[in-house]
Amino acid sequence: MNILVTGAAGFIGFHVCKRLLDEGNQVLGFDNFNSYYDSNLKKNRIKELINVYDKNGTLFDFIEGDLVNLFDLKKVFSKDRYLNSRISVVIHLAAQAGVRYSIENPAAYVQSNLVGFCNIIEISKENNVNHFFYASSSSVYGGNKKLPFEEDDRVDKPISLYAATKKSNELIAYTYSHLFKLPTTGLRFFTVYGPWGRPDMALFKFTDSIMRNKPIRVFNHGNMLRDFTYIDDVVASIISLIKKSVKNKNYLTNKTDESFDKVPYKVFNIGNSSPTKLTDYIKSIERNLGKKAEIILDEMQPGDVEATYSDTNSLEEYINFRPNTSIEKGIEEFIKWFLDYYGYS
Ligand SMILES: NC(=O)c1ccc[n+]([C@@H]2O[C@H](COP(=O)([O-])OP(=O)(O)OC[C@H]3O[C@@H](n4cnc5c(N)ncnc54)[C@H](O)[C@@H]3O)[C@@H](O)[C@H]2O)c1
Repeated sequence: MNILVTGAAGFIGFHVCKRLLDEGNQVLGFDNFNSYYDSNLKKNRIKELINVYDKNGTLFDFIEGDLVNLFDLKKVFSKDRYLNSRISVVIHLAAQAGVRYSIENPAAYVQSNLVGFCNIIEISKENNVNHFFYASSSSVYGGNKKLPFEEDDRVDKPISLYAATKKSNELIAYTYSHLFKLPTTGLRFFTVYGPWGRPDMALFKFTDSIMRNKPIRVFNHGNMLRDFTYIDDVVASIISLIKKSVKNKNYLTNKTDESFDKVPYKVFNIGNSSPTKLTDYIKSIERNLGKKAEIILDEMQPGDVEATYSDTNSLEEYINFRPNTSIEKGIEEFIKWFLDYYGYS
């Protein structure tokens, strides 16, 4: 298959590209290397993909470009320019991520997650792609108190602009599935972590601070539950969803309401369905580093939620797999990578 991965230099995009290439697909990556976090880490992810896979220039190609710029997107779809034949599947992962930053810089979210999303889905439709996958987020569940979160729960009360943009993406995707019969799948990721992870996320920040003998800030006095999901499980879910969905001629929404029946639209929770206390997560980091953290307990941050917990029955029913890597194993893998990448070992 010829597959476009947007956000290929990002954490999840990098791992998805790697696995798609391992399985012999042709992959075109797209990313703007923005400076939301260390762009060298993003460039090194792409270098890693090129080093491993682009020995003869056939399997992996990459375009540096911005979703907001239609000229850049047209390059992606210009016929036979990058891959040997047309792009059949789009995995749209590029976005402005992060809940807290959406309070500081709302414009970045409007541009990448709303304007950019409309641009990429429209051009995907114009180019008759077979299937459009896109990243949504567990943050669409907002402050919902009913746990675990199920795909059919009401999600119309987002508590951050980030969450609102992700919910908007689902609505826009539904419209395209309805109007143009473009098969779309929304992926509601639950706190993804692992090697090559994001510097703005807790695991990376805590590990980095502990190694530099700096204190760590723990919000809501540590009273947080997160459904941490290991990257390999996320990638395995995406790969299975692609294989199953592209073959499935009868790709219909997983909602039960009959009025939805003829729309090729689905949304899946991609989570570990086993929430961990933030304090236990920190203990596991300490154990793996053999070093204690200096903890500063802090208030809850605006836009944040106390608990996330995914129901993954829909995913399991559909692809016969659910994320299941233990926190201990996942943190061990992250820390091995971190110590090696940053020259501690
Ligand atoms: N990591 C998680 O825990 C998590 C949880 C829920 C949802 N998500 C979503 O999954 C997707 C991937 O997340 P990630 O953790 O890999 O984040 P990431 O920030 O590492 O990756 C996103 C990539 O998109 C690129 N990008 C952003 N705006 C762009 C634009 N306008 N044009 C081109 N490229 C652009 C960035 O440079 C970055 O490399 C995002 O949509 C994110 O919102 C992630």
